[in-house]
Amino acid sequence: MKNIQNIAVLTSGGDSPGMNAAIRAVVRTACHFNLNVFGIKHGYEGLIDGEIESMNESDVSNIIHTGGTILRTARSARFRTEEGLQQAIENLKKFNIEGLVIIGGDGSYKGAAALAEKFPIQVIGIPGTIDKDLSGTDTTLGFDTAVNTAMYAIDKIRDTAEAHDRIFFVEVMGRDAGYIALDAGLATGSEAILIPETKTYIDHLVTLLEKGWKRKKKSHIIIVSEGDDAGGAIQVSNAVKEKFNSIESRVTILGHLQRGGSPSMADRLLGTRWGFAAIEKLMAGKTGIALGIKNGEINETPLSIVNKEHPALSEEMLRMLYILSN
Ligand code: F6P
Repeated sequence: MKNIQNIAVLTSGGDSPGMNAAIRAVVRTACHFNLNVFGIKHGYEGLIDGEIESMNESDVSNIIHTGGTILRTARSARFRTEEGLQQAIENLKKFNIEGLVIIGGDGSYKGAAALAEKFPIQVIGIPGTIDKDLSGTDTTLGFDTAVNTAMYAIDKIRDTAEAHDRIFFVEVMGRDAGYIALDAGLATGSEAILIPETKTYIDHLVTLLEKGWKRKKKSHIIIVSEGDDAGGAIQVSNAVKEKFNSIESRVTILGHLQRGGSPSMADRLLGTRWGFAAIEKLMAGKTGIALGIKNGEINETPLSIVNKEHPALSEEMLRMLYILSN
């Protein structure tokens, strides 16, 4: 056990459902062990600007079921500059902060690693992103909620697509990872799922639509991951229309809808487990690690190697994608 007294927590990068559950667990666990806990607003931006406030158990009441983050978040370009980093370090010194819990994605982890290189502070990462694009963990905080939100939205689009005999190109988030597209697409029985991890051939898509047309199947849902190599849903729709326009089509971009909303049970539990574990690890003297989950058990990976390898999509999922989406 290490004698740590002052810790802080921040959320950084895109928000994800479950972040509040994690903040709650960090604060309540820290208070339980009589640590002083500070909340840093607006991620690394707030660390630079000194937006640092003491928190207690009641500051995190009634938030476990809410989306967004009570600490607010930001993407910070300033934190990547030497000046910004030094200013942040000054504020850490001012509040005598010895341990920092960072809830965010790969950019946030890079920031944490850079900080720990320059300043003797314990840093622990919690994977908070809807994209599920971090190595060392089977899933990330917010993915389950986001993919369910996408699924319910696509179900609704299916109704109107069917009613009008239309093709819908539905764009989902995921930056350069196709996990949301793949899971939401398979769960909604979508006719095609375009993801950045596999090459998209517009001709194949056109053949699929023509085949459907011949057997009088007129409505189709094509899921397009925002980072697909053929472009987003608008580009894919335009490319398809040039070769096949027998059926009317529409584009829906689900966008930030997928980032909000009340977290699912899975995300509330994950946030809670990771928040609790983060404090235990800090008290055990650990630093420079990202928490994750593998086969239901909490694990840790050195922050410096997270996301160097993009987690591969399972062969089983890819076989299903090929066979069931046609
Ligand atoms: O990283 C999460 C994510 O939602 C990505 O899926 C998406 O590409 C990006 O953030 C959008 O970021 P912003 O809200 O800054 O536009």
